[in-house]
Amino acid sequence: MRVLVVGAGAREDALSWRLAASPSCEAIFASPGNAGTAQRGANWAIPATDGKRLAQRCKDERIDLVVLGPETSIAAGVGDRLREAGVAVFGPSRAAARLESSKIFAKRFMERHGIPTARASAAHSLESAVRALEHHGESVAIKADGLASGKGVVVAGDRHTARATLAQWYGSAHVPGGGNDVLIEDRLEGRELSLFAIGDGRRFAPFSSACDYKRAGDGDTGPNTGGMGAYSPPLGFPADVQEIVRERVLEPLQRGLAEEGERFVGVLYCGLMWTAAGPFVIEFNVRFGDPEAQVLLPRVEGDVAAALHGAATGHFDERALSFSHDVCVGVVLATSGYPATSTPLSGLPAQVDLPDGCCMFWGNSTLRNDTVDVDGGRVMTVTGRGVDLAAARERAYAGIQTLASILGAYELTYRGDIACGPAR
Ligand code: AMP
Ligand code: GLY
Repeated sequence: MRVLVVGAGAREDALSWRLAASPSCEAIFASPGNAGTAQRGANWAIPATDGKRLAQRCKDERIDLVVLGPETSIAAGVGDRLREAGVAVFGPSRAAARLESSKIFAKRFMERHGIPTARASAAHSLESAVRALEHHGESVAIKADGLASGKGVVVAGDRHTARATLAQWYGSAHVPGGGNDVLIEDRLEGRELSLFAIGDGRRFAPFSSACDYKRAGDGDTGPNTGGMGAYSPPLGFPADVQEIVRERVLEPLQRGLAEEGERFVGVLYCGLMWTAAGPFVIEFNVRFGDPEAQVLLPRVEGDVAAALHGAATGHFDERALSFSHDVCVGVVLATSGYPATSTPLSGLPAQVDLPDGCCMFWGNSTLRNDTVDVDGGRVMTVTGRGVDLAAARERAYAGIQTLASILGAYELTYRGDIACGPAR
């Protein structure tokens, strides 16, 4: 098979790496790709959101399978354009992507179909949002309705903070939709877990889970980011997590989609809060997480390209893939100041000898002969693999130390506490 990965981040580098290692993958491409994907196959200079040009090029290059990475590409309808052109796509339609792109749509969908989620009010003006606070407890989560790369949510511990957040958001150019459409929901207590499932349009099969670290600073301090680290599999959850989620979330979701005439093909990322009463959905995403993909994909065994092609054509065989019992820990190396600022850097080495049991995935970057220019923000993810969490963490941080010494001239930052202790 000739396989194209759409996107340019470390998630797409990990997808390209894992797909290229599949027995049925003859050639791998990426668009626009990054410094990692460029070392494995050709990068196309077509933006991830340009469905028309991607569809034409896929026909010209006889691409058998397209895997969509980023939410921006999915929300731009690239999956629809490719399917119209007869290309097999692993990635949902724009309509199904509303489960991620509109938090209000997702909440209403869950309410209609009995999927456990926090009680919520939607508001479309500052006054109605402030009034809605009265219907909730002191502690609430406030969410902007739109794609925000994990940065459109504030968990407010008291009314004063909640009102201040709403006032700050309204009319702000930094909040999706100018902060006009918000969701206010009860704060849930429990432990967070991200469970990934594969949809082939007929049903969802649980894939595996991960825990991620969204805050910029150690000890979960600082602003929310796209994700600073992750590990898989998560520890300390019931052994039958996948069965519980299948029954309470995935099956009602599939029934709901069918009733509403939608099909979901691709990865469904269920952001869950595991409460005393079991799983509640905090959010759905319609793609792999970044950096969750960088700790999930190294653990998958089997022909990933063939399995995803099966899903793209309506027949995912759940038994075709299995997961290693090894643990993976991923630590993100970012430019200092992330997420407030992204500083471009140039001249990084394209190849680095990492300690055993480590691999690295490039974020948004460009390969120039044997050096790399990066856009800034999340520069790369280093993944360590081991028989248990401690071994995997030790390897990931050994890799980070190696990189930090090689890249000593650059101002980079990372969290020092990824996967420390069973819970965050
Ligand atoms: P989201 O973008 O919806 O995943 O929210 C980002 C983060 O905010 C989540 O990972 C949680 O840590 C937190 N969060 C969101 N909704 C809630 C909630 N209802 N209760 C508690 N924490 C929440
Ligand atoms: N790591 C969170 C995300 O990809 O949305």
